[in-house]
Amino acid sequence: MTQAKILDGNAVAADVRTLLTERVTALRESGGPIPGLAVVLVGDDPASQVYVRNKNRRAQEVGMASFEYLLPASTAELELLALVERLNLDRAVHGILVQLPLPKHIDAQKVLESIHPAKDVDGFHPFNVGRLVTGGKAQIPCTPLGCLLMLKRHLGSLAGQRAIVLGRSTIVGKPMAQLLLRESATVTIAHSKTRDLAGECRRADIVVAAVGQPEMVRGDWIRPGATVIDVGINRVPAAEAGKTRLVGDVAFDEAVAVAGAITPVPGGVGPMTIAMLLHNALEACCRQHDLPFEDLV
Ligand code: GUN
Repeated sequence: MTQAKILDGNAVAADVRTLLTERVTALRESGGPIPGLAVVLVGDDPASQVYVRNKNRRAQEVGMASFEYLLPASTAELELLALVERLNLDRAVHGILVQLPLPKHIDAQKVLESIHPAKDVDGFHPFNVGRLVTGGKAQIPCTPLGCLLMLKRHLGSLAGQRAIVLGRSTIVGKPMAQLLLRESATVTIAHSKTRDLAGECRRADIVVAAVGQPEMVRGDWIRPGATVIDVGINRVPAAEAGKTRLVGDVAFDEAVAVAGAITPVPGGVGPMTIAMLLHNALEACCRQHDLPFEDLV
């Protein structure tokens, strides 16, 4: 039986970081700015703590300055807004990321909208969301941007390809669909109310699964030879008692026998998110200093 090509996110992310390291070094050696990334975490969610630590570590590895703000869960919304305002004005900070989710007493949308659009490395500000739709220079959300880079590295042009995005979240599904449209793919957005999800999926040359449902997409949903990008990271009980394991939104063992190419979980899309965050931070720095920036995607 044929096996799909495994799209290795660790390898692509490492390539991106190498390129960014070269660019950050060249910038510094030519007397230019040192890109600065500020990451803000409110509360003590263990998964968020790991993400934030990794974001800072990776930023430093490529030669950027990283600024970490770890605030208690009791932080008032006004205090957080005041910190964002300070970071907006700080010339050493080119990118600001406020880790989600925020504690319930804080209005996350209000905080995201308080970040200056030029420093919005997450691409969550309505200005950047709008620009993604209307065209023009925008900061693009990191996970969909990473998915697009993996797709283009594997397929080249996406023009005319039938793509389906499973999930309509603001962070992944909606921007992913816009990016695919920008590449001239024919895009379907499917969600929990979609009729005959399996049938819709089977028509697609490209499947991007971002629903947060462990192994929901079965092998017989996949068109033979299709490219499958699995954004899901779901922790489920393992066979061994008391242990857990990570699975995606796609039943990998089934899909790998049908697809042309597929991202694994872990080691697929996951590592790309931070790599593209660093890409966005360098882009933000270059634009704030009126320096040229060559897109990677
Ligand atoms: N929490 C989970 N993913 C993300 C992300 O991409 N950006 C931010 N700010 N928070 C997150």
